[in-house]
Amino acid sequence: MILAIETSCDDTCAALITPSGEIAANIISSQTVHSRFGGVVPEIASRHHLTLLPAVLDDALATAGVTLDDVTLVAATRGPGLVAALLVGFCAAKSLAAARELPFAPVDHLHGHLAASFLAPSSFEPPFLALIASGGHTLLADVNDAGPQLHVIGQTLDDAAGEAFDKGARLLGLGYPGGAALEALAATGDPDAFAFPTAARMGGLDFSFAGLKTALLYKVRELGEAEATRLRADLAASYQRAIVEALTIRVRRALKQTRATKLAVGGGVAANGPLREALGALGVELDVPPRLLCTDNAAMIASAARYSPVLQFPDYLELDVYATGERTLVA
Ligand code: KG4
Ligand code: ZN
Repeated sequence: MILAIETSCDDTCAALITPSGEIAANIISSQTVHSRFGGVVPEIASRHHLTLLPAVLDDALATAGVTLDDVTLVAATRGPGLVAALLVGFCAAKSLAAARELPFAPVDHLHGHLAASFLAPSSFEPPFLALIASGGHTLLADVNDAGPQLHVIGQTLDDAAGEAFDKGARLLGLGYPGGAALEALAATGDPDAFAFPTAARMGGLDFSFAGLKTALLYKVRELGEAEATRLRADLAASYQRAIVEALTIRVRRALKQTRATKLAVGGGVAANGPLREALGALGVELDVPPRLLCTDNAAMIASAARYSPVLQFPDYLELDVYATGERTLVA
């Protein structure tokens, strides 16, 4: 069994999978405490990880019906993410491994999102084009193998797609994180009501969401509070359509450029129904993991561990976490 821990942001996660990628347990404890601040507070996230992790680990072992004796490899997210949050899961995992002199695999979070596609029962085989869209990252990668080196061919120049959802949700008075709430509100609105920018004229494969967020802000101000509230669902639907289009336009361009015939999608934004539909209509073989494997979880980290460098005891003891992804991305 591979035991993995993920604590890069505000979800405390532990999972157990078999070496062939079958999920035995995938426990996710989401910290709702941050919603009142409108965003994740790193110090609070880290303290909550400390409190929650022992119970989440026990839960994972009990759900899988195994003990630590059955664990042959321990893995944890090394970065990118919030350093104080990462440290809790990373140190806990290293300690667990060291106490039993087990091998340890440090995993890149973005590789993890990608590796959700490699889990059983329907492992998606490279080569393919990957779109990873989360709260912290939005990128297109040309994937030729299952390893951690991502060959990035497009990325966001400013906000991430999930950030655009969260900032839009905040402007419309929805809670944090706002992606799912905005999707629910948009379902009752008219996506043609307002024309929001997709930065399509930019050309190339890079994304930009800052102008879209500003356009929504100006539209809400122009309408005034009462009217903006009355038209909230239309605003949400039109705003969501712009994000989905901005993503879909670049994916279409990237498919053409790379001549890829397969597309994998990962990251929290891949949970979005209209995005899944739009990508499904592109006419290529598509892999979108179930929603619970799109948002942060440890099963994807355990999956990535199978294709990451594994260190033997005690070589991993001095390994540190990292905040940004530069170490594993190949531009
Ligand atoms: O991958 P993830 O769980 O965490 C990061 O690595 O950032 O992604 C979280 C992001 C948040 O911005 C959240 O609003 C967005 O994914 N998200 C969604 C949906 N569910 C989560 N965005 C749009 N529609 C959804 N249904
Ligand atoms: Zn993530």
